[in-house]
Amino acid sequence: MKSVVIETPGNLIIQERPLPQPTANEVRVKVSYASICGSDVHIWHGHNPFAKYPRVIGHEFFGIIDAVGEGVDVSRIGERVAVDPVVSCGHCYPCSVGRPNVCSELQVIGVHRDGGFSEYACAPATNAYRIPDSIPDKLASLVEPFTIAANITAFLQPTAKDIALVYGAGPMGLTAVQVLKGVYNVQQVIVADRLPERLAMAKENGADMILDNSQTLLSDLLNGIQPTLIIDAACHPSILAEAASLASPAARIGLLGFSGEPSLITQQSLTSKELSLFTSRLNSHRFPIVIEWMVKGFIKPGKLVTHYVPLENIEKAMSLFEKDQRNCCKVILSVN
Ligand code: NAI
Repeated sequence: MKSVVIETPGNLIIQERPLPQPTANEVRVKVSYASICGSDVHIWHGHNPFAKYPRVIGHEFFGIIDAVGEGVDVSRIGERVAVDPVVSCGHCYPCSVGRPNVCSELQVIGVHRDGGFSEYACAPATNAYRIPDSIPDKLASLVEPFTIAANITAFLQPTAKDIALVYGAGPMGLTAVQVLKGVYNVQQVIVADRLPERLAMAKENGADMILDNSQTLLSDLLNGIQPTLIIDAACHPSILAEAASLASPAARIGLLGFSGEPSLITQQSLTSKELSLFTSRLNSHRFPIVIEWMVKGFIKPGKLVTHYVPLENIEKAMSLFEKDQRNCCKVILSVN
């Protein structure tokens, strides 16, 4: 089989590899579509502290189960599945409180173990979620990015009367916008970004107001509006302090970033308004709810897709995704 392998940081190749055999409680997926995420690019460039090399990348993928390991019902062969990349131990403290995404032995498919930019990939059978017929193959790899928005909004508990501010109109910001509008019916969703093309995408994805903060301070653009819920999907360390200053008293702020740089913020700016701060990593068992949202039409994954590229053109696809933010959102690889 052909697999996209990052041999060492900076060195991406397509390699012929032996077909993997599913071990006990695993399934093998014949991959049909896989989508590119920023973290794939980070692993390529050696900027992901968790990645081990060589690594088959890709953690957003969909395909058909074509083999099962011991302990898995053979009737699953032929099932259309999207794979949750979060592999957890099931017995540590975070797992015991329903948070396998921060398992103390966390293994992320495509990061810590081989992933889905490959003709075939193995995964624990419990990570392979059946995709209903109403979700087309071409969009099913997008369950995973929406689980990020599902996870952070589960903490933030949006309500219809919220005024939400989303920083960043990249894939993460746009999934958040769709979930805030389509699932939680938030009355006003404001999106800030520095690229007009990305703001236009935010509008198409349901934003009520778009603000270009490339030249003007967001506080001036908001003109007195105090968001009651803020999601930082741009993830610059300076954003937290600004978000706290813009937020309404009693607002909730959700952070997605992994920067190692400090955020300079006073206790007073948080405590005087009694702001709640939530962080969110990957997803904890959110595949079923996202699949339900897609089936019900609450979220529209097709609105995120700007490109389909064959797996063979992976380097071109990754460069396009990384360098052309004005024209690119989700880039999906067609595999088999
Ligand atoms: P992206 O780079 O495609 O989008 C970020 C957007 O933010 C860009 O459009 C950029 O113009 C905009 N931006 C940058 N600085 C800004 C500012 N000060 N104000 C307003 N907009 C600004 O990235 P993507 O894929 O959407 O991911 C966003 C972040 O989410 C990344 O930092 C990534 O590491 C993080 N992430 C976190 C996950 C988690 O589970 N916690 C999962 C996936 C991504």
